[in-house]
Order: sequence, then structure tokens, then C-alpha cells
Amino acid sequence: MNDMTNHIIVRLKAEHYTGNMLGIRDARPRLSWQYTEHVPDRSTVVITLRRRRFCGKSVTQVAQLPAENHRLIEWPFNPIEEREEVVLSVQLQAKDGIWLGEPSEPLHVERAIGYPESDFIGVPWPEYATDHRRAPLVRTEFTLKDKPVRARLYMTAYGLVEAEINGNKVGDDILTPGWTDYDNRLYLWTFDITSHVQQGTNVAGFLLGDGWYRGRLGFFGGHANNWGDRLAVNAQIECEYADGTNTRILSNSWDRRWKCALGPILESDLGEGERYDARLEQEHWSEPGFQTDADAWKPVAEISRDPVPKILPAPFRGIQSRMIRKPQSITCIQRGEDGLGTWLVDMGQNCTQRLRLHMHGLRRGQTVSIQHAEVLERDGTLSTRPLRRAQQHDMYTSSGHDTWWEPRFSIHGFRYATIDGWPGELTETDIDCNVYYADMTQTGWFNSSHALLNRFHSNVLWSMRSNFVFVPTDCPQRDERMGWTGDLSVFAPTATWLYDATAFLCSWLDDLAYEQERYGTVPLYCPWFSMNGTHNGMRPVAVWGDAAIIVPWQLFMETGDLLLLHQYLPMMDRWIDGIAPRLSDDGVWDRYHDDVRAQIGDWLDPNAPSDDPGKEMTPKQLVATAYYARSCRILAKAHRHANDIDAAEHYEQLAEHVAEGFTSRFIADDGLITSDSECAYVLAVAFDLVRDSKRRTAVEHRLLDKIQSSGYTIGTGFAGTPQLLHALTKIGREDSAMKLLLNEQCPGWLYQVIMGGTTTWERWDSLLPDGSVNPGDMTSFNHYALGSAGEWVHERLGGLTNLQPGWGRFLVSPHMGDGVENANVSRLTPNGTIQVEWSTLDDGRHRVHLIVPEGSVAALRLPGLEDRECSAGDYVVVCG
Ligand code: BGC
Repeated sequence: MNDMTNHIIVRLKAEHYTGNMLGIRDARPRLSWQYTEHVPDRSTVVITLRRRRFCGKSVTQVAQLPAENHRLIEWPFNPIEEREEVVLSVQLQAKDGIWLGEPSEPLHVERAIGYPESDFIGVPWPEYATDHRRAPLVRTEFTLKDKPVRARLYMTAYGLVEAEINGNKVGDDILTPGWTDYDNRLYLWTFDITSHVQQGTNVAGFLLGDGWYRGRLGFFGGHANNWGDRLAVNAQIECEYADGTNTRILSNSWDRRWKCALGPILESDLGEGERYDARLEQEHWSEPGFQTDADAWKPVAEISRDPVPKILPAPFRGIQSRMIRKPQSITCIQRGEDGLGTWLVDMGQNCTQRLRLHMHGLRRGQTVSIQHAEVLERDGTLSTRPLRRAQQHDMYTSSGHDTWWEPRFSIHGFRYATIDGWPGELTETDIDCNVYYADMTQTGWFNSSHALLNRFHSNVLWSMRSNFVFVPTDCPQRDERMGWTGDLSVFAPTATWLYDATAFLCSWLDDLAYEQERYGTVPLYCPWFSMNGTHNGMRPVAVWGDAAIIVPWQLFMETGDLLLLHQYLPMMDRWIDGIAPRLSDDGVWDRYHDDVRAQIGDWLDPNAPSDDPGKEMTPKQLVATAYYARSCRILAKAHRHANDIDAAEHYEQLAEHVAEGFTSRFIADDGLITSDSECAYVLAVAFDLVRDSKRRTAVEHRLLDKIQSSGYTIGTGFAGTPQLLHALTKIGREDSAMKLLLNEQCPGWLYQVIMGGTTTWERWDSLLPDGSVNPGDMTSFNHYALGSAGEWVHERLGGLTNLQPGWGRFLVSPHMGDGVENANVSRLTPNGTIQVEWSTLDDGRHRVHLIVPEGSVAALRLPGLEDRECSAGDYVVVCG
């Protein structure tokens, strides 16, 4: 215990940031950490804080608190001022004053500025009102009397922006300032530019891009200019000198020091691709000494918009390359007499990534064309049809100089690329592929003896990563890439198991709550933009709108953060209260015909025609009523945790009323449910909706019967699939759940793996058994919704279920056998890491190895053994 090289206190963090963070919002961030060892009674923690205000002196403060609290503890010091830097560390002290272990690793945070004093500036000339406009550059020169001891750039934009100072790119983030509902708010990012600036003349340059703000967005071609048609940057540079003085530089259109010109990006669209002409580069444009030719460089204009969004410090770190991957294969497809070839590159993994190419050996004016796709057609060509308008096509025209090039304001979902017009050989050394996703801490791992299942799990993980780039999207490739609420609604329990995405998802929920108020209900996708020019007539849609319940609830269960729950309770209430008057008297959600028509139901039910995925077998009002009952119950639980018992009872009664309506309206006396579809039985069982025991038994039999007679293939879409395996658990038939899970036929989870999928697909048969691409015009190979089975895999096969907000208590009860010989899960929780590892022994019994972290209790339920509770420790149990 007294080993001084030991860190007993680990993972110190502020609020839900993943670690050190420049530019936080909070003046009093709550602190959390974890213990790696048992903490003796009456120990304390000593929190040491070194803080320094802008242009001020360093001060040290100390606070001592009881050690038992280590999660989201109140900030024990006076508030952090704007621009103030703090460095914290925490050390454990026994009651007799002896230090236990070393201080934790330090945590650095710095508070952002409140609201920038700088203006939004952009080009003064008129631009076409369509898309495909040439991307502008903005630059300014400024003088510093000395080399600053600290310099910061605070930056946001209408559109996208990348900054360079004295010729060097600022930070590694891409697609700054990210995607929010720009009518509501914009993120302000803080960059450390101390090493970029110098005494004397300096230059700040900004490249602007269309992005979500004014680029083309939406399905089947979509529209441009969804939030505005004029790009702008807002930049505030603050430099602090050793003598305590400072210089600030603010973007503006009146001091005549900010100029703009057209840049080398001819056009750039997030989905369609980027066209870059290196001949148009202005060498050294962001460095001192560059002469701004008055013909090319004009004074900027101030850009205003209505409504004016709030500008808020970003709640998480930016999107950066998370890994650099090398191709799995590079093949020359064809070579012309001029020596220029077409090459096929297989990256081996479908995901959100960008190729960075070493452009060399090209003559001035020669163009390399790069096209990206998720899969190949049977003839070996790229399958670009499913991309619809987002053709993911980049073009680079050379200036004759060697350089590395990656697009800036475009991003691609792909595994394969063709590179056309390449001189000579294309080799691995010419390609780095950067994989992009949000900054989140991985918290969940699964592995087993079943190789295909492991690949399925990896596919789930990759689809999550690919679609967690600023906003949780349906897919990362075709002309859609939108924050569809229903997809996250069903995937959230799996997502929050795999990653701590709290900050990322809260950011999205903030827009969801805003839009719910603005448009009168939860939109189908968020950020919302109108696809037909009107924002009227939005109707509540089950499963999709239930994201307003399930996502905050999941985050609360993961973190135990009551403040977070209170923050989203009004949105949760509004969703449920808004639907209550739309129920018929018996509790079924079908009082208004138009409500029923608006429902999406069990979207992509495999029995629906491939060109009409909404024409599923299960009545839409049945799906809507079932999900509504479940959401009412969750809301009731949420109110119990928030200590509002009256509200809890109200929503419990409402849930009961709805369940009764469900039973009497949809279930016949013999247990047959209207439509007799798999989804209907799954929801009835999984959500406990059958009110009398005779009918319940009949419903359960019918569910099993349907599953067995389908040969263990799947008959559900978006609404039924996440509940399918849970329903079989409820009726004690996990043997059948395993047959479904491990089935390699289509529709089935492993079919996608057998067919070579490296991500989870939108349709069960995005690739048909003969290897051809599904002809439907909605065919993606990277949707996470059907990967929602991950939740069951973690909880039942891995055997680990969270029972209490923040993981203070959890259930360990793996389903062992039935085609899998061993499995293990690890889960990083707010108390530390839980591990469950089981294997089947030669004699048919099972060995379970369990690690319970400090502060948590495991409820152990294993075959053949009495249930027992285990506190922190390492356990090996043989059972079965
Ligand atoms: C999206 C889905 C979405 C659905 C709803 C599709 O085009 O890709 O994932 O939830 O539309 O209608």
C-alpha cells in the first residue's frame, strides 16, 4: 500500500472531459477520479491546485476532503476565471497523516473566454448562391513587442476553418468548429499558439470551407446553404508577455488589417469531395514578408446572420486523426501509354477516413483523381451508386512540386479507393490513411472463442467510430450523414457501453432539446434542417423521438450524474407529455390518423419490399404504443432518482394505462397479436406489455415458435431488433437467442461477417448472397442501428449488466455455452475496471473469473450456485 511508485489515484478528470482540456466552459468543474486500491477508513484526499490568471502570478491552493467521495465532487476552490489556467493533482492521505501512494498524474485545464469580442469576417464580393464555390483565404499581420510566454487563438466560423500562423497549421483538429444547430449555437475552440508566434511581425491565415453550414446536406441530393450562404471566421488572438502585459488581436472589417483572397480549393463538399489546384497556391501566404497584391487581396467584410447563435466553448476536444492506417493491398488496374495508371487501394477496413498521398513525379497541371467507396461491385469496380450524390471524389492538380496532400473540408466513408492519373508505381510509402472520430474514452471490450462473433463486435465498434464525428449520424458515406434520432435511440445502450461518449452525446442532446422547443416536438434528425423548405407540421415519431428519453437515461445510468439527469428531465417530460393527448382513450397512440401515418415503425423489416422499407409487417401504432409505454416507465424511474415521487407515480400509471391499451387492442385471447409479426411479439415480451398471464404465456409461445420456424433468421427491423435477444432472455430461452446470434444465414448478424463486412450494415442484406450490392437506393454498409445487439452480447454473453446509476452495483450472470466456449468483457466504470471472464471446462462445468473494483458490489448469479454479493476483489468460481 505504501509503495511510493504507485498511483493509487488515477483517471483524474474534470466534468466529462476526457482529460486535459484547453478552453473549458465551467467555472466550477466537478472532479472525479478512481482508486486502484482499497482506501482505508477515514482517509482523506489532498487536492493541490496551481492556478494562474491571465497575466497573473502562479498561486497554489490546497483542499482536503474525505476520500470516500471521488465521483463528480463539487469544485472545492473559488471559481476559475476566464482564461485562467489550473493544474490539479490529488493525493491520498491516511488518517494518521501518512501519504498513501504518489499524487495523481496532473490534470491541466484552462477556462475559455466568455464571448469573443472579435467579429465574423468573410469575403466582400458576391458569390453564386449555389454550391461549389471557391474557398477563400483570410489573413492578417500583427506585431508583438516580445516573444509571448503564452498565446491563445480563440476561433469559430460560419462554415469550416483551419488556421495557420507564420506558415504552420494550428492544432491537429479537422472540420472546426464542428456541427451544431447553427441557429442555436456555435462552438468556440481554444488553441495554444505559444510556439507559433514570435517577436516582431506575425501572420495569421485562415482557410474557409463550406462544411455543414453552407455545403450540400440531406438525402437524394439535398440542398446547399442550409444555415447561411456566406462563410466567415471569428478569431481572437491573445498574447501574454513575461512582464504581465498583453496584446490582443481581434478579427474585424474596420481596421483594414484583415484581407481575403481566393484560395487553391476550387470546391469542397463534405460528401462530394474536394477539388484542389496546387497551381493556385500562394506560396508563403500565411508568413511575414508575403506581399498582398491589391488585385487579389481585398479588405474583408463583416458577415452577420440572423438569428445570431450563442457562441459557447466546445464541450470536448476536437476531431483528430485517431490512427494512421496503411493499405491492405494496392493493385494496378490499368496503365496508359503515358505511364499514368489507375490503382485500386484496399484499406482493409470500412470507416471514416481520409487518404493522405505523397504527390510526386507529377508535372505541373497533371491531375490525380481519387474516388472512394465502401464495397466493390462483382466486376471489381467501386460501388459508387449507393453513395448517391455524395460521390466522395477528390481531385488534386499538381503545381509540379512534390508534396503530401489530404483533402481539408471533405470527409469520406470508405474501404476502397481508386487513384487515377498516378505516375509510376503507387506504393505503401505514398499512402497514410487518417482515421477520424470523436475524442472519447473506450470503456468496453469483448472477446470470445467465437471468431465470427468477435468480428461482429469489432464491426459494431467501427460503425460507432465512423458515425461519431461531431454528431451521431446514420451513416458516414452517402448523401445523408444526418443525426437521425432513431438510429441513436436503438444504439445508445451499446454505444455508451463501448465508449464514454458523455460529452459528445450531451452536445447533441443540447441541440435536441432546443429543437424540441423550437419545433414543438423531437425532430427526426438533429441538427434539424428543412428538406423541403418548411419547418411546419412536424409530428412526433416513436423510436426516433424516444431518443429524448433513452439517450439521457443511458448517460445517467453510466455516469450516475444527477445534474445531467436534471438538465434533460424537462426535455424527457416534454416528449411524454406531448404525446399523452394524442393517445386514444384506451391508451393506444392513434387518436390522430396523421400521427399514425407519420410513424416510421419497424423500419427496414426484412420482410418489407426492398424499395419500400417503411412498409413493414407490424402496425405502426403498435410499435409506437409499445415504445411509448417503455419510455413512460423509464421516465418514471428517472423521476424517482430525481426524488420527484409524484411525477414518478404519474408516469408509472400512464405506462400501465398504455400497456393495458396495448394488450386489449392488439392481443387476441389466444395470444395472437395483430399482424402476427416477429417485431410485435418481441416488443410485447421485451417491454412487459401483456397484462394477463394466460395471454402472456401464449404470446411467449408464439414468439418462440416464430423464431424457430424461421430457422433462426431475423424478422425484425430497427424497432424490433434491439429487443429481439432480450425478449428471448425474458422467456428463459437464451439457447434460442444464441442460435439467432450465431446464425450465418441472411437475415442474421453473422451473415454480414461471412460476407466480408468490416462494419455493421443498414440492411440485413446490403450485400446480397450472390455478392452483388442490394439494388435499393438506400444501401449503406456503415449504419450502427442493427449493431444494437451489442447490448445483449455485453450483458448476457459477457455476463455484465449495470444495475445502478454509475455502476455501484452490477449483475454478473453470463449465459455460458451454446456455441461459445469462453468469453470475456472488461468495462471501465466510474469506480474502475470490472472484468468478467468465463470458460467452459472439460467436464462441462464453467470457470468464472471476476474482478470487482473498489466501491462497487457485484451480484453474482451463476448456474448451480446460490446468488451472492461480492465487494471489491478478485474471484474465481467454478459452477454449472
Ligand atoms: C436513414 C436511417 C433513418 C431513416 C428514417 C434513412 O434514410 O439512413 O438510418 O433512421 O432514414 O427514415
